[in-house]
Amino acid sequence: MEEAVKIYQGELFTFTASPFEREDCYLYEKEGALVVSGGRVVEIGLAASILPKYPTAELVTYDKGHLIMPGLIDAHVHYPQLSVMGMYGEQLLEWLNRYTFPAEVNFNERREKVDYADFFLQELFSRGTTACMAWSTNQLNSVTALFQAAKAYDMCLITGKNLMDRNAPASLLDEEDKGERASRWLIEEWNGVGRLHYAVTPRFAPSSTREQLEMAGRLLKEYPGVYMQTHLSENRDELRWVQELFPACKDYLEVYEQAGLLTDRSFFGHGIHLSADERRRISRAGATVVHCPSSNLFLGSGLFDWEGFDRVALGSDVGAGTSLSMLSTMGEAYKVSQLLGRPKDPLELLWSCTMGVAEALGLSDEIGSFKAGCYADFVVVDYMPDELAAGRIHALSAGGQQMLENILFGMQILSADCRISETYVKGEQVYASGWDF
Ligand code: GUN
Ligand code: ZN
Repeated sequence: MEEAVKIYQGELFTFTASPFEREDCYLYEKEGALVVSGGRVVEIGLAASILPKYPTAELVTYDKGHLIMPGLIDAHVHYPQLSVMGMYGEQLLEWLNRYTFPAEVNFNERREKVDYADFFLQELFSRGTTACMAWSTNQLNSVTALFQAAKAYDMCLITGKNLMDRNAPASLLDEEDKGERASRWLIEEWNGVGRLHYAVTPRFAPSSTREQLEMAGRLLKEYPGVYMQTHLSENRDELRWVQELFPACKDYLEVYEQAGLLTDRSFFGHGIHLSADERRRISRAGATVVHCPSSNLFLGSGLFDWEGFDRVALGSDVGAGTSLSMLSTMGEAYKVSQLLGRPKDPLELLWSCTMGVAEALGLSDEIGSFKAGCYADFVVVDYMPDELAAGRIHALSAGGQQMLENILFGMQILSADCRISETYVKGEQVYASGWDF
């Protein structure tokens, strides 16, 4: 039997190329149509030319002021840390010891982890995020809970077990070869199941011995399909500590490099205080740096500079991040870039949490755009939910300014004033505003 066809009609946006490489990089139709069948994008285009081709399709039409666009991708978020969002007064190392490690110890003692993981995913959906590279805890069942919850939606999700064997509370540490055994088991069990992927996850250099980092490097070699995520060069006290712990290394990146952890499947959270040489080595390897602006501002970690990196993704980094919204994360990234005197434009920011990160993950045939064959993971943003927002858009149309750029920029910098109307994963609705009253 042929799969049913559903058409979503309204204002529509998707990237077709990188805004870092060419101006002509997107498709924007004011009266567009997105054709979905079997959970995948069939085609997109002008409604007037698409609709006659599918006379029996079910039609969903959105009003003016609603933009249909690819679902957002959060490249760095800690799901056991929701409870430590907005904890006052510390920088990274104190924050970890005072709030975050205790929260992860408590999380490990929770029984109903799958329910909690599902709650986390629903919080993402309600903010327009449809895929993520997430952190769990050190415990194997925190990872299985998140994979199980994500599998129920058949969504794209990457996670892994935190590897730590020093400088954290005892119950967060891997004894003997437990880190390796648990990682192997999880890779064999989950990597490549549906749209799920495993990331080897050494937390950061100070909480792993050289032996553990090398073991993580061996896993990456042995299982070429898996990713690697870690934290890098986030805070100045952390940098000094890494120098004390690894005195033979010339810089922070070399600690990971020597362990075989710098590859084109590596995702480094933060990367604020890196030298020009470290930036070059990251780009040469084809690795990705994940910019986490709300976290960097909240913990006073520093201002991330995009200079010298080929691949930058965006992450909420909740619980240090102050919002799960990737719209708000783009707005924060803009402010940081303004402070450095090199403002990023709204297309570059959106690229970094849609098709740009999909390319970095090697998943651009599946997520990040409306290319035919991609999964129909998308969001409908109501960017004129009230008179205030409508007034801005009317003024824009009257003034003839760059319309699309300012619609996108408004969603980012005024994110609190727009609404996620609906979110879809693989063609299924997973959120609609009104579900959350
Ligand atoms: N460095 C090591 N662990 C963490 C963490 O949980 N959050 C942040 N922001 N940085 C880290
Ligand atoms: Zn983090």
